[in-house]
Amino acid sequence: MKSSTALNLNPTIFVIFGGTGDLNKRKLAPALYNLFTEGYMPKKFAVIGTGRTEFIDQTFKEELKDAVNEFSRSGKVDKEKWDDFAKTIHYTPTDFTKPKTFETLKSAVEKYQKEFGKETQVIYYLAVAPKFFSMTAEYLHKYKLTQDEDNSRIVVEKPFGHNLESAKELNKLLGCIFTEKQIYRIDHYLGKETVQNMMAFRFANALFEPLWNRSYIDHVQISVTEQLGVEDRGGYYEGAGALRDMIQNHLLQLLCLVGMEVPIKFEADELRDRKVEVLKAIRPFSAENVRFNAVRGQYGKGWVEGKEVPSYRHETSVDEHSNTETFAAIKFYIDNWRWQNVPFYLRTGKRLNQTSSLITIQFRDVPHQIFDADVAENWQQNRLIISIQPEMSIRMQMQAKRPGVDMVLNPVDMVFDYKGTYETDTPEAYETLLLDVMMGDQTLFMRGDQVEAAWELVMPILNAWESKQSINFPNYPADSWGPEEAEALIARDGFHWYNLPLKEQK
Ligand code: BG6
Repeated sequence: MKSSTALNLNPTIFVIFGGTGDLNKRKLAPALYNLFTEGYMPKKFAVIGTGRTEFIDQTFKEELKDAVNEFSRSGKVDKEKWDDFAKTIHYTPTDFTKPKTFETLKSAVEKYQKEFGKETQVIYYLAVAPKFFSMTAEYLHKYKLTQDEDNSRIVVEKPFGHNLESAKELNKLLGCIFTEKQIYRIDHYLGKETVQNMMAFRFANALFEPLWNRSYIDHVQISVTEQLGVEDRGGYYEGAGALRDMIQNHLLQLLCLVGMEVPIKFEADELRDRKVEVLKAIRPFSAENVRFNAVRGQYGKGWVEGKEVPSYRHETSVDEHSNTETFAAIKFYIDNWRWQNVPFYLRTGKRLNQTSSLITIQFRDVPHQIFDADVAENWQQNRLIISIQPEMSIRMQMQAKRPGVDMVLNPVDMVFDYKGTYETDTPEAYETLLLDVMMGDQTLFMRGDQVEAAWELVMPILNAWESKQSINFPNYPADSWGPEEAEALIARDGFHWYNLPLKEQK
């Protein structure tokens, strides 16, 4: 990240639809405040929150202050800095049933545009429920709020569509109002520091590229496990499930970063082209191989840290016979020269035993073993483990000789750990992403064709799972590693899921 003075950011107006909602409180407001205190906001900027609630500016500011105090990585606000930041905040109610309210919003935007000058950029952030995405875009168009192609942008949260068809429709509608350069489809995983580092790691080091292929890599695991259950998000989650909520976006994006070819330069469309190529090369599923290569699960009740937790079917707003999966494990193949027959195992789930996001690259065994079996005590093929969270590290597991007069080998770790290496605080994904939107950099955002390619891939699995009620749900207890079938999926190929040892968890 550079400072905004060096970047010379144009004056910016952020219009946040869903200003009173959870996303703004937990993520956007803290991110904007941190960017402000660290000197990354443009010299002139304004934040206009909007929603159906009738608020006066002061009440809105107080709500955001409480939220930043609660959710910001930097802790409670500094009074002076907050007061300065709060001067930029404004609230104006909007209601689709009262078009006049959009005229008020327009006046608020125009007032700042006049004050800030003609270079002012306006960013419309759709932090609303997905069913309002199209309507909001249409209203922005109707009230001529987005006519200036160079200076207006729209940020669309996930989920982008509910299936392939609705994603296509949304892309089509946005395409009639905006150019692709104006559309920022968020996948917050791409803003995570460790995820961005995947590109530096792969493409700024000569060491890995020669090994990064089917000749040396045995298989890849991408595992995003969460201890939390669905909590109060049952209303949303019932219509989503793990496949839509995590695999279609976050996990497939991680797969793309591991699988992509080397780009010619570090430039948004070049990188996104390489990622789309991966999605297009993934072997499509048929109804038959969904059964063999995809496992779904739903959590039952259990105990987490001494507290009894309910089963998914007993969470608020969840159907007592729900068929929604809270766990998914899938085996993919990428049909190209680099990856032919290298399995990529993806796994995600809620109410599992650990919260961690790991990418494990397991290398092939040595071609010829010169050591006797008793010399290599715990023989383990080389592994590269990229830990995205909560630990942020990259570790290389290899064999070494244990000190002593005997020749005894055992696996050791070479670790690059962010905490031990850098003293600076890591920005939250949303800080990086909001700054990128202001800079007009789409590298870490999804292009329309990428979203559609990812939907196309998961549709056969989605259809198979939706059309057939699972008879064994719930099939894993809270605080476990998911259903036994997920172990069997990988064990059939002679592997097992890799988890960081518990002591590594912070
Ligand atoms: C969101 C999903 O996109 O990502 C949530 O909707 C999930 O269900 C979350 O918990 C995980 O994100 P993170 O950053 O906490 O790993």
